[in-house]
Amino acid sequence: MCGIFGYVGEEREIGSEVLEALRTLEYRGYDSWGVAVGVDGRIGVEKRTGKIAGAHVDFPPSPIAFGHTRWATHGGVTHANAHPHLDCDGRLAVIHNGIVENFRPLRDSLLARGHRFVSETDSEVIAHLLEDALPQADGDLAAALSAVVGRLEGLNAVIAMDVRSGTLAAAKNVSPLVVGEGNRGASIASDGLALQGHADRVLYLEDHHLVRLSPDGITLYDRRSMSELSADFAPLVLQSGETGLGAFPHFMAKEMAEQPDVLERLVRDATGQIEDLAAAIRDSYGAFLVGCGTASYAALTGAYLFSRIAARHVNFTVGSEFKYHEHFLTDSSLVIALSQSGETVDIIEAMLAARRRGARLGALVNVPRSTLDRMVDLRVHLGAGPEQCVLSTKAYTAKVAVLLMTAHALAGSPEKGKEEVLAAAAGLQEMLSDAWVAQVREVARRIHREEHLFVIGRGLAFPTALEAALKIKEVSYIHAEGFAGGELKHGVIALVAPGTPCVVYAPSDETRADILSGAMELKSRGGYMIGVGPEPDPVFDVHLPTPDVGDAAPLVNALPAQMLGYHAALLRGNDPDKPRNLAKSVTVK
Ligand code: AGP
Repeated sequence: MCGIFGYVGEEREIGSEVLEALRTLEYRGYDSWGVAVGVDGRIGVEKRTGKIAGAHVDFPPSPIAFGHTRWATHGGVTHANAHPHLDCDGRLAVIHNGIVENFRPLRDSLLARGHRFVSETDSEVIAHLLEDALPQADGDLAAALSAVVGRLEGLNAVIAMDVRSGTLAAAKNVSPLVVGEGNRGASIASDGLALQGHADRVLYLEDHHLVRLSPDGITLYDRRSMSELSADFAPLVLQSGETGLGAFPHFMAKEMAEQPDVLERLVRDATGQIEDLAAAIRDSYGAFLVGCGTASYAALTGAYLFSRIAARHVNFTVGSEFKYHEHFLTDSSLVIALSQSGETVDIIEAMLAARRRGARLGALVNVPRSTLDRMVDLRVHLGAGPEQCVLSTKAYTAKVAVLLMTAHALAGSPEKGKEEVLAAAAGLQEMLSDAWVAQVREVARRIHREEHLFVIGRGLAFPTALEAALKIKEVSYIHAEGFAGGELKHGVIALVAPGTPCVVYAPSDETRADILSGAMELKSRGGYMIGVGPEPDPVFDVHLPTPDVGDAAPLVNALPAQMLGYHAALLRGNDPDKPRNLAKSVTVK
């Protein structure tokens, strides 16, 4: 997802400060970047493909600038397609996050009116639409942007610069924007993280807002009527937790190691929110857990936990599919979104669909004040601290822990839920020992050159198998697939060739006998069996031991896959924190 940062205020070395702000947004994933600075009535632009890394920009001091990290959607990764995009005369510049779904007809009509385009992007149409709208708005950039944004279809966040008036104007439709006021000027970004050092009070823009940042200060409007609104700024609140690497080589290693502390903090801090969530589920008629990717596997785990512990049917749907299920939602429904970032577009859209049906909205979310956090009726903050590796590890475990404790709260056994989570935290701490990690590293050495890897699990371990496969595939690029253990005979076993690594989740529960039987089928066809669970078994070629923590098994069973994927990635020379083609949060469809 694209990163945005802008500033209007005292004249300063703002070009390099914009670049620093963009660095704090690198975790969002990008493949090009650009900075625009107002210089003597012109717009100076520096943009490049690739990472910011050791880059620097050289602009004179200026009172106005903005910058952008681009995640390519429409148009390849090229210098021309990097933002910002200018109008024909170079007076206006635009940076944009999202997709202009109707950009082709808009571009065609602009070309017919003589506009000259230099990129293949959808975003560039915004600069040329503004160029036409500005005269009609008597040179008022905010009014011109209001007219233009009303013509854009899709989920977007736009910041426009008019170097002649020294003004920025911004508006959004679902994609996030937060405005900051500080003692040296006004700033705006796609994430509060980038406002550190620039603002101490912030305002999260809503979809009906439009904001002007000018030498006169910050003015907030209702985008449709352009009537002024009072701006209720609040102190900038960032996720607590160290954002540096510390002694770790990668954020993935750091965040895997933080999991025991995250669980202990949840038991200590989340009780009230968990009780509220349990009550909301109890009071609902039809509750849904919705998530994408790793979050979806946490949600599916939750469906099993609510059944096992509270005998409660809670539906599960993948975020991108939810809107195709919305038809039976009612005002008695409860839709609970699981999202680390709180910005995943499929989740936001699912929640908007649920709201349209009158459902109550809940969330398990890690980033406070994110779009999801601000749009729901109740939430449980995961409190996992900044998760900066593109892969989700500690946030996944936190979501599952919250669902486990919520299921116990629903069943009237809240203390048991806390005890199970604390036992899992202690178990994870043991697993993080050098000796255990060395065992995983050995297995990584055995499998890291493989092309395929399969993971099987039953019951509670089935969604864990799906998450394990995702972790391994997205960081090592090994084609890993997770299956329900009972599915082997329904086609899956055709895939197994001699030497194919197969991870088998064999917890000490009612699934053990059946999953070991499946493991024997795989072994008889030459599979290399990697057993994960409290007990060894002769069918395993290698056994990665995990503590026996009962229904909290999903909390300890993710780490073996996280650690296996991490070490396989290192052996393959991959960057575990920024895997190819992936962004930390998918904010565009
Ligand atoms: C996590 O390892 C993946 N990178 C991805 O599946 C992620 O879980 C998914 O995009 C959902 O993100 P969210 O939790 O921020 O909504």
